[in-house]
Amino acid sequence: MTEKDLIKNAKAAAKMSYSPYSNCRVGAALLCDNGRIYTGCNIENASFSPTVCAERTAFFKAISDGEGEFKMIAVYGEKDGKGDTPFYPCGVCRQVMAEFCGSDFTILVATDDDYEKFTLSDLLPHTFSIEKGVALK
Ligand code: THU
Repeated sequence: MTEKDLIKNAKAAAKMSYSPYSNCRVGAALLCDNGRIYTGCNIENASFSPTVCAERTAFFKAISDGEGEFKMIAVYGEKDGKGDTPFYPCGVCRQVMAEFCGSDFTILVATDDDYEKFTLSDLLPHTFSIEKGVALK
């Protein structure tokens, strides 16, 4: 699985987005250490706060399927049908990643033309964690 292929999966997942309030269609593709891929899209709600981001949808699908080792995630989004703006993971999604991934977990943020590559520690330095917690690395 190349980085570009993972991004293609994220773009395909964005098509499933339910986002009538923001008009932002976001997709994520999460690559597990075992090679499996879990995709997710953002799912919004009229009450706003139940909205879930594409990244968390992908993580929760994977975790609930018994996955526990993650290598990389690709994120792609379109605002009003245009994919020219990077959709950097929000703070809540970064914290969820920190629960299940090491500091070297790779995050690809793609637009139509290009992509940027980060580690989790780039995007979430000085991470809050509980030493010796259950899901921490
Ligand atoms: N969103 C994501 O799904 N992922 C991100 O990385 C940033 C934001 C969603 C949440 C909401 O449905 C919409 O984009 C606008 O914030």
